Amino acid sequence: MKTSIKHSLFFALTLLSIISITSIKAQTYAKNGMVVSASKISSQTGIHILKQGGNAVDAAIATAFSLAVTHPTAGNIGGGGFMVFMNSNGETTTIDFREKAPLASSKTMFLDENGNIKNNSNHKGLLATGVPGTVAGLFLAHQKYGKLPWSKLVQPAINLAEQGFIFNWNLYRAGQRFKEASDQFPFMSSYFDNKKGELTQPNEIWKQQALANTLKKIRDNGRDGFYKGDIAEEIATYMSANGGIITTEDLEKYEAIERKPIIGTYKGFDIYGMPPPSSGGIALIEMMNIMELVNWDTIEFNSKEYVHILTEAMRRAFADRAEFLGDPDFNLDMPLERLISKKHAKNRFKNLNMEKASVSDSSKFGQIYDGKNTTHFSVLDKSGNAVSVTYTLENSYGVKMGSKALGFIFNNEMGDFNPVPGITTSGWQIGTKPNLVAPQKRMLSSMSPTIVARDGKPYLIIGSPGGRTIINTVFQTTLNVLEFDMRIDKAIEAMKIHHQWSPDVLVFEKYLMSPDTRKELELMGHKVRATNGLGALMGITIDPKTKIITGAADSSRPEGAAIGY
Ligand code: GLY
Repeated sequence: MKTSIKHSLFFALTLLSIISITSIKAQTYAKNGMVVSASKISSQTGIHILKQGGNAVDAAIATAFSLAVTHPTAGNIGGGGFMVFMNSNGETTTIDFREKAPLASSKTMFLDENGNIKNNSNHKGLLATGVPGTVAGLFLAHQKYGKLPWSKLVQPAINLAEQGFIFNWNLYRAGQRFKEASDQFPFMSSYFDNKKGELTQPNEIWKQQALANTLKKIRDNGRDGFYKGDIAEEIATYMSANGGIITTEDLEKYEAIERKPIIGTYKGFDIYGMPPPSSGGIALIEMMNIMELVNWDTIEFNSKEYVHILTEAMRRAFADRAEFLGDPDFNLDMPLERLISKKHAKNRFKNLNMEKASVSDSSKFGQIYDGKNTTHFSVLDKSGNAVSVTYTLENSYGVKMGSKALGFIFNNEMGDFNPVPGITTSGWQIGTKPNLVAPQKRMLSSMSPTIVARDGKPYLIIGSPGGRTIINTVFQTTLNVLEFDMRIDKAIEAMKIHHQWSPDVLVFEKYLMSPDTRKELELMGHKVRATNGLGALMGITIDPKTKIITGAADSSRPEGAAIGY
């Protein structure tokens, strides 16, 4: 009884605080703790847990469940992701809760008899769904590093789903789009409905009772509440009735894994990134190593030389990504140490021509389609423990399908595998072996939750959504903080570029690059293309001297917020 009064109080306070924090600034300062996420409500959930004596891992778990309610485009229990955790002594670990290919999958599962991808089936329909990892990952993180009881961390999300929260314009726009295409998206077309069966209107309260019921089983039974029993059976029934292949055996077998971080250095800072099956840590450190070789006294931020060098570092790191990286449990011989060595960076830097763009040999490696609707959040607690989490459904609202009885959306993460073995084109596909589909294998990811330490203490906590652009936006924000000493909000908002080796295109944020620079880059041989925005970075820095914590949420996510206390 006492607990439910407290929870109702939290709910009321959350609503109040949402109303009172509408004038949130780009950056927020705090002394005790900070949560930065793509949802103000969910940042508030995390802060509520910190204030109750929870540590950063507790707050991250509560924030993740909360985002599954408030930010369903990417916040999830039907997808997967990664957590990097550094305690206040600088000891760092990671939790891999990436989705896995179902037991019945195979390397040619998406192909027709001519060897072409069948009906976009690696992205569309339930064949594209990997075995979800989020609940197992959060549960493992809690068992190893959490402090407050598990039920206390799931309960705020239950309250938000059951009692509802203020429906925002982003959700409303998504609801409108799904209604307009209801024949294509039957599950999503009623997902945002109110009790009357109509689309919830902006500023109305939106409730999700089925999701609340699912979360209650997770609250009461932990990992097994999702991977065994009623929920697992309903997932398997729904899958087999709708063309999916995930079974109760797949769910029962799913395990999150604790892995050692990828570690690099940059001019006295220690960088901790996510190891494979993420490509983020390796690529980030390879690029930072190349940056360490640049004489920054002679190169100005955002000059053509700056853009050129970053582009060439990206080209090289993404070529290595395509060639070597995949699930480490299936690729025992990946040359990880070599890729992150200073010697490798020197070799990669040596053939970089300062006058001319290199050429990507896309007859060897290429690009696959990549979802951009992931979400990242960063957490710091009073004791100095730091958590960086990126998790995803792959595309916006994942595969856009789910069981009405369960109330959550499944991922379409299988699209991150290389779909056509052996075929690599300059336009769309990579067919290299390390990331071909196999039963129980994890698909390669670009998610790059990162923590940078100075003198053994967390200094920067950062990450972003954005498919492959994640690696590059995290890289540039990290460089902006470590090399250019930018305040975190400035580092996040500064112009970002993206190059991923193949296709050989330099993408830049529209209106942020001067036309003169663009023209100079074209003269150097770069093929340039403007895009509306790159990344949605959620970052925290900690001043080692004053201990002041600064948080900032990317302005590209207007529902997001850095909230401190
Ligand atoms: N689905 C996006 C990623 O894992 O990189």
